Amino acid sequence: MLSVAINSANPAEIGTALLVVALPENPTLAGIAALDNASQGALTRMIEMKDFRGSRDESLHLTGFAKGPRRLLLIGMGLVTDRRAAFKRAATLAARTAQRLGVGEMAWYSGQITPEETESITIGLIAGAWEYADLKSQLPEAERKKPLEQATILTSNTDDSRRGLASGKAIGDGQSLARRLAMMPGNLCTPELLAQTAADIARLYGMGITVLGRREMEAEKMGSFLAVAQGTPQDPKLIVLEYKGGKPAGKPVVLVGKGLCFDSGGISIKPAQSMEYMKFDMCGAAAVLGTFETLGQMKLDVNVVGVIGATTNMPSGTAMNPGDVIRSHLGKSIEVINTDAEGRLVLVDLLSYIRRYDPEVVIDAATLTGACVIALGHSATGVFSNDEALIAEVLSAGKRAGEPGWPLPMWDEYKELIKSDVADVKNSGGRPAGAVTAALFLREFVQGYPWVHLDIAGTAYSETDLVTIPKGPTGVPTGTFIEFVRGRAR
Ligand code: BES
Ligand code: MN
Ligand code: ZN
Repeated sequence: MLSVAINSANPAEIGTALLVVALPENPTLAGIAALDNASQGALTRMIEMKDFRGSRDESLHLTGFAKGPRRLLLIGMGLVTDRRAAFKRAATLAARTAQRLGVGEMAWYSGQITPEETESITIGLIAGAWEYADLKSQLPEAERKKPLEQATILTSNTDDSRRGLASGKAIGDGQSLARRLAMMPGNLCTPELLAQTAADIARLYGMGITVLGRREMEAEKMGSFLAVAQGTPQDPKLIVLEYKGGKPAGKPVVLVGKGLCFDSGGISIKPAQSMEYMKFDMCGAAAVLGTFETLGQMKLDVNVVGVIGATTNMPSGTAMNPGDVIRSHLGKSIEVINTDAEGRLVLVDLLSYIRRYDPEVVIDAATLTGACVIALGHSATGVFSNDEALIAEVLSAGKRAGEPGWPLPMWDEYKELIKSDVADVKNSGGRPAGAVTAALFLREFVQGYPWVHLDIAGTAYSETDLVTIPKGPTGVPTGTFIEFVRGRAR
């Protein structure tokens, strides 16, 4: 785990294995003259010869200083319009490079920075250092790289920056937890493990926790969630975390996460190709847990309830079948057309169960539809809502977090597609507008609160290596949840 500190040392004199300096497009020597001197004018020459132009994600790495840093890494930020976003991206790249070099420790310098910018840099450093190596055997000593354990942000403004450092660490740790849980294989990241993780967070930070298993859910008549869970011998878990930082009587923000620890499709089984990615079908739940880790550290003045529906979707002799009709917690009947449309079956019982918490607003996050990936690709989360003002607030939180969302419609016209011959509603409207009909299905079970649904199927994980994020989980929408909750804090 990376620990980040602040120090007012002179970057040209600090004894570090790797000093990273982030520079905008067409850089000047302003602020780095001392480093230029220490490199006997190498920086001036590199900039003059245009070996380094400062374009976004460009990097150049120098050695050979007489004293001070052993290596200098310049990172380009391109034309900077949003300093926080640019610093976060560059810091992520910097820590990723430090991991690759195996230096173990690094320093960051980017001139005068505000506490908010310190927060963004800290988040970026933690994100870049993130890796999941728990299940790999250790290499022999000689081939082993030192994991990045320490990063120091150099700034003269140390007192004010400490605030940004603390909140950046809280957010970075929340996102790292979400990514870690997502990356864990389904045989380790079980509903039981998610419940255990929630219990650990609750104990560490003094939060409330409730966990319902199959028996308790039967008593609650959660026929829809249980229909999904009836195909697996593992005990399904409905997990509730309660953070009470706001007024005692203040209505909570309720965050709901889909927690399918593995989605095989059930009897409507998925093709084998890429099925391994369905361990990521709990990224919504992971983001809820990550947000509570952050809340525990940040102590925001707001009440938040987190609710997770955790199980696996398996074919078996006890599994639900296409054509089955089940009864949801709300009382509505559902015809199961496709057992692979299981996320919505789990979510609707959560959406009616949470009414007992008297929600101020509800945001759910789910890797819900392949159709959302077709609609928006991997660059935007699909955002649906029954409330105009709330959707704007969530989109703005996503923007601040660097996790863009894009609104999709929920017009009544589309409801035709989920009408059932035998029940109140059916769980699949087929391929047209698949992300929309999934959201409309959820809306049938939303009663009495403003609600936003985030379809993160395309954004919660990446099937390819990206510049800042390796193949695997992105942490989305943990940042969006945190920024939203922060915006609601007193
Ligand atoms: N977990 C999947 C959605 C998914 C697909 C997430 C690809 C990430 C990447 C979900 O449970 C699912 O299988 N949805 C079906 C719904 C259909 C049967 C109506 C889908 O999208 O194909
Ligand atoms: Mn499915
Ligand atoms: Zn699923």
